[in-house]
Amino acid sequence: MFSKYKKPGAGKKPSSRAPALETVAKTPAPTSEPTAAPAPAPAPASRVEMPKPAARKLRAKTDRAPAEVTPIDKERKRKERLMEIKLELHKQLLDNLNLSALESAPEKELRAEIQSIASEVLSEMNVVLNRDERQTLNTELFDEVTGLGPLEPLLKDDTVNDILVNGPKQIFVERDGKLTLTDVTFKDERHLLRIIDKIVSAVGRRVDESNPSVDARLQDGSRFNAMVPPIAVDGSLVSIRKFKKDKLGIDDLVNFGAFNEQMAAYLQAAVATRLNIIVSGGTGSGKTTTLNALSSFIGDSERILTIEDTAELQLQQTHVGRMESRPANVEGKGAVTQRDCLRNALRMRPDRIIVGETRGEEVIDMLQAMNTGHDGSMTTIHANSARDGISRLENMVAMAGIEMPLKAVRSQIASAVNLLVQASRLQDGSRRMVSITEITGMEGDVISMQEVFRYERLGLAPDGKIIGRFNATGVRSHYAERFRQWGYDLPASIFEPMAAE
Ligand SMILES: Nc1ncnc2c1ncn2[C@@H]1O[C@H](COP(=O)(O)OP(=O)(O)OP(=O)(O)O)[C@@H](O)[C@H]1O
Ligand SMILES: [Mg+2]
Repeated sequence: MFSKYKKPGAGKKPSSRAPALETVAKTPAPTSEPTAAPAPAPAPASRVEMPKPAARKLRAKTDRAPAEVTPIDKERKRKERLMEIKLELHKQLLDNLNLSALESAPEKELRAEIQSIASEVLSEMNVVLNRDERQTLNTELFDEVTGLGPLEPLLKDDTVNDILVNGPKQIFVERDGKLTLTDVTFKDERHLLRIIDKIVSAVGRRVDESNPSVDARLQDGSRFNAMVPPIAVDGSLVSIRKFKKDKLGIDDLVNFGAFNEQMAAYLQAAVATRLNIIVSGGTGSGKTTTLNALSSFIGDSERILTIEDTAELQLQQTHVGRMESRPANVEGKGAVTQRDCLRNALRMRPDRIIVGETRGEEVIDMLQAMNTGHDGSMTTIHANSARDGISRLENMVAMAGIEMPLKAVRSQIASAVNLLVQASRLQDGSRRMVSITEITGMEGDVISMQEVFRYERLGLAPDGKIIGRFNATGVRSHYAERFRQWGYDLPASIFEPMAAE
C-alpha cells in the first residue's frame, strides 16, 4: 500500500507479512507542516543489523529492569536505545521512501507508511517495543523525515519563544523571558548537522567548513541561524526565534506590563502624527515586537514598505510591500543588501518605510529617508539606552565610510529622528519599555534629548520579580503642539509624574 511514496525499486518493500500494529500513532497534527526538504544522501541500502546484544538488552528491558539500575538511568538508557533504533530506521526510510512524492503526501498516509516500514524493520531487527515506545518512535520518525527531528516538539510548543542549541547534547529554550535547559538531545553532531543541512538546503543555501554560518527562515516563518564547526568549537550552534502567528498587539503589551496606557496613548499620537521613531534595545528585548505593535497605529490608507534581513514583521494594513535582503550565494554573488532594498524603496513611492533593524551602511539612506519626506518611518537598533542609541547611529554612519564632520552627522540625526523608545529585558525575564525619549534638536555640538516616560524600579519581590512602575518625568512633550494640530489632544495629566512611593 501507499506505493506512490516508495522509491521505484528501492531497498526492500514492506512485505504483507509485516506484523500489523494494533495502534496507530495518535499524535496531534503538527500546527505547521514543514515541507519535506531534500534530505541528505541516503545511506547505502545495506540491511540494518541491530547488534545482537543491544537487541537482546532492549527486549530484556521491556520485561524487567536489573535491580541496580536507578529509574533515571533506566529512562536515559531507554532514550538512548530508542534514539539508536530511530536513526537506523530513519536510514531505512530514506532508502525506501520516495522523497519527492513526500512533499505532496497527506500526513495521514505518510504516517501510516512510516509506521508500516518501521514495524517491518523492527521485526527484522528482532526488536520488541511496547505500545508507548512504538508511538513515540513513529512520531519521532515522522518528525525526522518531514521536520526538524528532536527540535520539532519544541517548535510546536507555543510557550517556547527561542530555541538555542549548543552542540548536540545541550538544547535550551526561552519561556517567559527565562532560559531553561531541556532534556531534548541529538544523537551526535552528525545528527545535528543533518538537520541543519536539511533546513538550509530547503532555502537553497549551504553550510559547511568554508561557509560556516547561515541565516534562514523556516517554513513557518521562524528565524533560524546556525554556525557549524570548526568555527563553533563544541559542536554546531543553532538559534531559532519562533514565529508567533498572533503577534503581540498594543493591548497585549499593555496587559503584559510592557508599558502603560498613558504611554500607549502617547505612542499612538507619535505614530499617527508621523514622527520618526527608533526602537532601541538589547538582543531579544522585544524590539521587533514593539515595532510591529507600533505599526498598528499607521492609517490604512498609507503605503508602507518594510525591509528586513529576515521577514518577521506582520503589518495589518492593506497597502504593504515587504522586502527581504539576501546574502551572497556560495560563489559570493547575488547579495541584495538592506541598503539596496532601501534605495530601491525610495523609488517606490512609499508613505512610510520600516526597516526591521538598522545595523550597517543602510543607516545613511534611512536617515536621508527620514529627513526627506518619509516622515513616520521606523526602525530598530541594538543599544542599551537612548544616548547609546545615538552613539550607535553615529558609529554606523562613520563605519559606512561617510566623511562628514561629527557635528554634521549629529545634526542629520537630530533632524531625522524624533523619538527613541528603549526596550529592555529585565533580570526577572520581563520585557519592558524602560524609557521614551524625545530628540529636541541640537545644543552646540550635542544632540539634546528629553525623557518623557520611564520605568522606575521600586524593589524586588521575594520570588525575584522586579517591582516597579511606569511614570512620566514631568516634562511637556516637545511635540504636544503637533499632536494637538493633528487632532490628538493628549490630556496634560499623562505628562504629570506620580508622587514618589
Ligand atoms: N512585552 C513582552 N512580553 C512578553 N513577551 C514578549 C514581549 N515582547 C516580546 N516578547 C517575546 O520575546 C521574544 C523576543 O522578542 P523580539 O523578537 O521582539 O525581540 P528583539 O529585540 O527584536 O530580538 P532580536 O534582537 O533577536 O531581534 C519574542 O518571542 C516575543 O514574542
Ligand atoms: Mg528583532
